[in-house]
Amino acid sequence: MHIGIPREIKAKEGRVALTPHACHELVAAGHTVHLETGAGLMSGFSDTDYRQAGVEIEAHAEALYRVAELVVKVKEPVAGDLAHLRKHHLLFCFLHLAPNPQLTRQLCDVGLTAIAFETVEENGKLPLLAPMSEIAGRIAIQAGAHYLHASLGGKGLLLGGIPGTARGKVVVLGGGTSGLRAAETAAALGAQVIVFDRYSEPLHRACQLSPLITGRMAYTAAIADAVAHADLLIGAVLVPGERAPKLVSEAMVKSMQPGSVIVDIAIDQGGCVETMRATNYVEPTYVLHGVIHMGVTNLPGAVPRTSSEALTAAILPYVQKLANGSWQQHAPLYNGINVGNGKIVHPALLS
Ligand SMILES: NC(=O)c1ccc[n+]([C@@H]2O[C@H](COP(=O)([O-])OP(=O)(O)OC[C@H]3O[C@@H](n4cnc5c(N)ncnc54)[C@H](O)[C@@H]3O)[C@@H](O)[C@H]2O)c1
Repeated sequence: MHIGIPREIKAKEGRVALTPHACHELVAAGHTVHLETGAGLMSGFSDTDYRQAGVEIEAHAEALYRVAELVVKVKEPVAGDLAHLRKHHLLFCFLHLAPNPQLTRQLCDVGLTAIAFETVEENGKLPLLAPMSEIAGRIAIQAGAHYLHASLGGKGLLLGGIPGTARGKVVVLGGGTSGLRAAETAAALGAQVIVFDRYSEPLHRACQLSPLITGRMAYTAAIADAVAHADLLIGAVLVPGERAPKLVSEAMVKSMQPGSVIVDIAIDQGGCVETMRATNYVEPTYVLHGVIHMGVTNLPGAVPRTSSEALTAAILPYVQKLANGSWQQHAPLYNGINVGNGKIVHPALLS
């Protein structure tokens, strides 16, 4: 199988889908791996590192996509990628199609088959999304704490406070992978944290992480009350494959104090805050109703050295199955197909 790894061209995205060590495993198994020149640089891997692993370096995207059968990348294709995709390609990457009907149509028009990392489900878990969610949860708090600085327009609050001052208040919507990591990180800084979820099990897990964390059922009135007092609000809900439910209305955002901060991790699935729109690392934030909004859709892209290694470890076993041609019998991959031969096939996109 000819496996192609393009350079990510989304703004300031530094991740690469597979590290040289992982490529070496694929080459040793008899596959030919192609890399677009420079694709690993921001993750700390040079073309020479890849060459030493037996990878063929392609001078530009056109050459890469021409030789590739299986295209493995990180983020969903943007215009510059779409121009190179062809019907015979098997595409494996994050797609987040539910809030993006335009990209869904474009992939169908190409006529290819595309499997989304975030819809590969194994034993009720999302093993390809989880490592990026772990990272995004931590980054959401690091970035939120940063934007609370008065020098950046924030309300001028040290999230953890010090003895003799009030602790910052953090509200986390969703107690899954990213939400729990966000809650844990905020509590480690000394903030007071409330985690909301619609199930009690994540709330139990949240409360076990720190005495500074309270778990609460996601009733609308309870969320409204907590949001009004929050210094930092984190959106971290997910219904796999579907558009994120809107848990925070514009009126709730208006009730927050000026200089408060919202980081909506769930923006890649459309966001769970009514006033949130997608942003990127070129211009990560905007202010609405006096509240700083951050809707970066590729939060882990800021720490590519960590993220590429974590992503590679998660996806390699699945890439091996795809490359061996045995994947159609592998339910998690088969059920992860979003577009099959140019047709929408995933149930969450059909409903
Ligand atoms: N912006 C980024 O860079 C980035 C990076 C990684 C992950 N994500 C996204 O973050 C989101 C969360 O991912 P995750 O891996 O933490 O998901 P997860 O499945 O581990 O957790 C989601 C949680 O949301 C809860 N939930 C769902 N609907 C709810 C509702 N109506 N009310 C209350 N709780 C509800 C679920 O019960 C679950 O506990 C996803 O959209 C994911 O794609 C974004």
